[in-house]
Amino acid sequence: MKRREFLSAGLLGTLALSGCMPKLKVEQRGEYRYEIRLQAADFELIPGTQTPGLGFNGQYPSPIIRAKQGRPVIIDVINELDEPTTIHWHGIRIDIAMDGVPFLSQKPIMPGEHFRYEFIPPDAGTFWYHPHMNSVVQLGKGLVGLLLVEEADSSQFSPEDYAADLPLMLKNWHLNDDGSFKPLSIPRYAARMGTPGNYETINGLNRPAMTVPANAWVRLRFANVDNTVVYKLRVKDRPAYIVSIDANPLSEPKPLEHHSIGSGMRVDIAVKTPAAGEEIVIENGKGRLYFEFMRLRAEDRPLKKATATTAPMPLPNPLSEPELDKAEKKYFVFEWEGAVTPADKAGKSKHAFWTINRRAWEGMGPNNIPEPLAKLDLGKSYIFDLKNNTPHMHPIHMHGVMFKVIKSNKKNIEPFFTDTVLMEKNERVQIAFVADNPGRWMYHCHVIEHMKTGLMGYIEIS
Ligand code: C2O
Ligand code: CU
Ligand code: CU
Repeated sequence: MKRREFLSAGLLGTLALSGCMPKLKVEQRGEYRYEIRLQAADFELIPGTQTPGLGFNGQYPSPIIRAKQGRPVIIDVINELDEPTTIHWHGIRIDIAMDGVPFLSQKPIMPGEHFRYEFIPPDAGTFWYHPHMNSVVQLGKGLVGLLLVEEADSSQFSPEDYAADLPLMLKNWHLNDDGSFKPLSIPRYAARMGTPGNYETINGLNRPAMTVPANAWVRLRFANVDNTVVYKLRVKDRPAYIVSIDANPLSEPKPLEHHSIGSGMRVDIAVKTPAAGEEIVIENGKGRLYFEFMRLRAEDRPLKKATATTAPMPLPNPLSEPELDKAEKKYFVFEWEGAVTPADKAGKSKHAFWTINRRAWEGMGPNNIPEPLAKLDLGKSYIFDLKNNTPHMHPIHMHGVMFKVIKSNKKNIEPFFTDTVLMEKNERVQIAFVADNPGRWMYHCHVIEHMKTGLMGYIEIS
């Protein structure tokens, strides 16, 4: 019902299926200002049914927030839910006060309250936003949205260098046939790969077909906003290139065979579209099998710019290069430790299945902030050695910084910057970064049930 409605003044339009995005609304002061209300709302996900979800401005797909690198953005968040919340800007190297983690960086936004988030994005690329409270439910029911940051210098690169720039939000909903919710979390799954949703959507649509201009480069900006599943993407029978990973452009376009993105991760893919009338099929892999995920149908459309011969590449973000020879090493072991702890004072039984360095995350409260997993010195370079001692995949995410993946015991790594790294089962990876952003930054698995059942902590940089 709300799915394709347009947003109120000051906000941006919904995703047009054609991929034509409405233009930015910029206020006179040159600021990017938004107002976002968290609301209960019905979504028509399975055609002909209603799903009682939670939405930003009551919508799914959610409003896209567009910002510009180096320019202030102001987002007024109004909590119209009946529970507290906060909003986190995933991947943005932000001031700690704006990071949206309850108790660690701000007080929860209580029902009926509002909070103004104000920040200057230092990096351009594909980001997203979501609550950081009661995440199994708040994210699981629809509070997930894209945050697209445009490059500061549009003479070097602008989204219009692509004939179409399609933001694609991937989420598997937990739905019964009548649109009602199935359980979002089942403990025996939480203790394994997480409870996967069964109804696969891209921008709220199952197996969509979208139209794109023929004979031109288009950019597909995939964001995995799901709580659990890994999407393994490939473009069938058509050359395609990875251009950016988690908002960071590669040094050159990398031919795409297939690419997996875990919860929280993004990948920008460039495809040269075929002649009008032809189609591109994008597939999602499960194990060794691939299934149709979406289609792009090429149509004749006047192009604004002559289309380039190679995929247009954004400029790198201004990230500090870690000094590997001087870096201090820290070790983190991710393990499974099936345990169900007795009911807490509120009578809720707490499950802790996962540990980082033998410690399951204790949770936080207003007067109770546990110790950090590590304390880092501001300005120093670090190498984190991450060891996944479990037979499950974990997308490991760090707030506040971008890190460089430099090594893996399972594959050859062409080092790349990212904010979330997908650890394969039993994989050991090394990431390196400069601790250049002071604050207490969450460091967790982005499989939401894993983070809720132990696989979380924080890093203190001071
Ligand atoms: Cu996208 Cu702490 O998360
Ligand atoms: Cu984050
Ligand atoms: Cu995990």
